[in-house]
Amino acid sequence: MTGIRAERPETPEARRYSRKDFLKVGGAGLAGTALLGTAGCGGGGSGSGTLTFAMGTDTSGTLQGLIDKFNKENKGSFQVSYREMPTATDQYLDKLTTEFQAQQSDIDVLGADVIWTAQFAANSWITDVSDDFPESEQSKYLPAPIESLIYDGKIWGKPWFTDAGMLYYRKDLLEQSGISAPPKTWPELKEMADQVAQETGTKYGFVFQGSEYEGGTVNGLEYIWTHGGDALDGDKVVIDSPEAIAGLETERSMIESGVAPKAVATFTETETDPAILGGDAVFARNWPYMYALAGTSAYPKVKPEQLGVTPLPVAEGQQSTSSLGGWNLLISGLSDMQEEAWEFVEWMTAQEAEKQRATEASLLPTLKSLYDDPEVVDAIPVIKLGETALESASPRPVSPYYSDMSLAISEQFTASLSGDVTPEEAAKTLQEELTSIQEQAS
Ligand code: GLC
Repeated sequence: MTGIRAERPETPEARRYSRKDFLKVGGAGLAGTALLGTAGCGGGGSGSGTLTFAMGTDTSGTLQGLIDKFNKENKGSFQVSYREMPTATDQYLDKLTTEFQAQQSDIDVLGADVIWTAQFAANSWITDVSDDFPESEQSKYLPAPIESLIYDGKIWGKPWFTDAGMLYYRKDLLEQSGISAPPKTWPELKEMADQVAQETGTKYGFVFQGSEYEGGTVNGLEYIWTHGGDALDGDKVVIDSPEAIAGLETERSMIESGVAPKAVATFTETETDPAILGGDAVFARNWPYMYALAGTSAYPKVKPEQLGVTPLPVAEGQQSTSSLGGWNLLISGLSDMQEEAWEFVEWMTAQEAEKQRATEASLLPTLKSLYDDPEVVDAIPVIKLGETALESASPRPVSPYYSDMSLAISEQFTASLSGDVTPEEAAKTLQEELTSIQEQAS
């Protein structure tokens, strides 16, 4: 990695120039990726007084409201326009990769999945904000989201909202079956899901995300972690282990036992929401955002008070953990509006905007102070669970090659879930494939 970085210049004008200039020369040597230097910089950035902000579809509708608010407060200066990107993180990443590799993008600021930092920074697609975001400011935010922004000793953006996988359950249905507490282990979940679905005439016992995409990787890893296994230990690939195989076996058993429909092997978050919020499932694994959708005009059937949330189940004797997810705000290295971009990023990650996203969209804040804010805690019960879940959440592997790894992982996880390969075969194949990706990287 070259990691060239300009000295901090005196004036904002000079700083803007040097950031761009530094990005022009800061390409890192990643095999198989188009690097900076061919088309030079300046392929994008609106530079017209309108700053383009990219993010996947906002199911809650709060994002446009916040952007309107910013634009109103910022009248007379630049305005922000929202460019809607695909909801699924992989499809969004594909679009970004194509634009950045071609050095042609109108995006100035992007909402970015926590797993993208290494790849974007290593390719110099984004701006190093270490000078603007010193450690004294970083300490106001939760440590795990901050960690997701560090690459090569620098920080590449600001944490926006954070995520942890959790188990949702229909409190009212469990009560009808005389069950007073949610399950703690996977076997308990299976038993309860089966019983409650039958007794209450609910279509599915349990739904989760098993499709071949990033969410499939996340769900499979959670089964592996909650059985004491892992995919990587530092740089070492350790997925071909009895614990990891046991995790994949439990995931597969959800379909085999009839607790989950076969279709979960094609489910993303988008299919999970209507299944449980439309009244068709007793349990669901999902992120905190889903809580805010309950009882809305899109999902009037299941009200928030009918939903309980609890940590993900574990295998006997294991600790609960879930995948650390979340989204950061990054500034495109191609943007001609570096100062404005930072201003917008600061505004979106300040107390007021984060609070609004938390109370209206049940997105977990990254600002520590909001976890003690009574208005936030009262409005969104998932916040308290989120805080606990975050303490034990596991990060996905950090690597500029993570997206290659995840493609291989989700392919095998979905094949194992669908019964196309055995969990043993999936673990063995992945041991080889991930090792080979690691070898290419070094
Ligand atoms: C959520 C998480 C993100 C994860 C994605 C998988 O958006 O915040 O980190 O990659 O789900 O579908």
